[in-house]
Amino acid sequence: MSAGALVAADGLAAGYGGPPVLQGVTFAVKAGERVAVLGPNGGGKTTLFRTLLGELRPSAGTVVRPPRIGVVPQTERSRLDFPVSALDVALMGTLSTLPWWRQPGRADRRRARRALADVGLADRMHRTFGDLSGGQRQRVLVARALVQDAPVLLLDESYVGLDAPSVDLLDELLATLTAQGRALLIATHDVDQARGWERVLCLNRRQVAFGAPADVLTRATLEATYGGEIVELPGERCVLPPHHHDHA
Ligand SMILES: Nc1ncnc2c1ncn2[C@@H]1O[C@H](COP(=O)(O)OP(=O)(O)OP(=O)(O)O)[C@@H](O)[C@H]1O
Ligand SMILES: [Mg+2]
Repeated sequence: MSAGALVAADGLAAGYGGPPVLQGVTFAVKAGERVAVLGPNGGGKTTLFRTLLGELRPSAGTVVRPPRIGVVPQTERSRLDFPVSALDVALMGTLSTLPWWRQPGRADRRRARRALADVGLADRMHRTFGDLSGGQRQRVLVARALVQDAPVLLLDESYVGLDAPSVDLLDELLATLTAQGRALLIATHDVDQARGWERVLCLNRRQVAFGAPADVLTRATLEATYGGEIVELPGERCVLPPHHHDHA
C-alpha cells in the first residue's frame, strides 16, 4: 500500500507507556495530497503526529517517512510571550538542519526570509511574533516548517481560532504547498473543509476510516468517529457543532 507514498503507516499503534491510545492505523499519502485528520478531542491526532515525527516510538506496526518532516504544532499558540520576531521564529526552522556547532548564517537567514515571503509575510518579518494576528502567527509557523525543506508537513489544528480571511489565506497557502508536490496532514475539526481535500483519515483511538472524502465522509463513519456529536444539515451533510473545539 505504501509504494510511492511520501508518508505511510501500517498497523501502527502508539501511546505513552501504558496501553496504546491509538491503534490499527494504516494509510499511505502521496505527493500532492492533503489529508484531513479528523477525530474527537483525545482521539489520537496529536499522538499520530508525534509518532510520525519520531518523538514517540510505535508500540506496534511500522511507519514510512522521509528524513525530514515539518510540523506546525498544536501547543505553540500558547507561547506568545517570547520577545522574538517573526524572522527569529522562521530561523528556528534552520536549526534542525544544522550541525550542532553551527549558528544560523547568512544563507539561513536568506532561507528564512524567503519562507516568510512565501507565506505572504515579507512585510511583517521584524514584528514581534506575539503581536501578530492568529492567522499571521500560523503562517510564520508554516514558514518555520518550510525552512526545513521537508516534503511532508504536519499541521496540528492550525485553523483553530482563525477569522474567515485568515482561513482563506491559509487555505490558499496549503493549496500552493500541495501543488508543489508536498504531502500535508492537517488535524482539523472542520468536516466541511475536509470535503475539499484529497484524503480523509478518521481517528477515534483507532483508525475508523481512510480514503477519499466522498467515501469516508458518510454519516455512519462520522458517527463512529465522533459519537453523538455530529449534526445533520439539510441535504444530508453532516457537520460538527461550531462550539465543538475549545483549545485556542
Ligand atoms: N503526554 C501524554 N502522556 C500520557 N497520555 C497522553 C499524553 N498526551 C496525550 N495523551 C493521551 O492520549 C490520548 C490521545 O490524545 P491526543 O492528544 O493524541 O488527542 P487529539 O486527537 O490530538 O486531541 P485534541 O483534539 O484535544 O488535540 C488522550 O487520551 C490523551 O489523554
Ligand atoms: Mg491534538
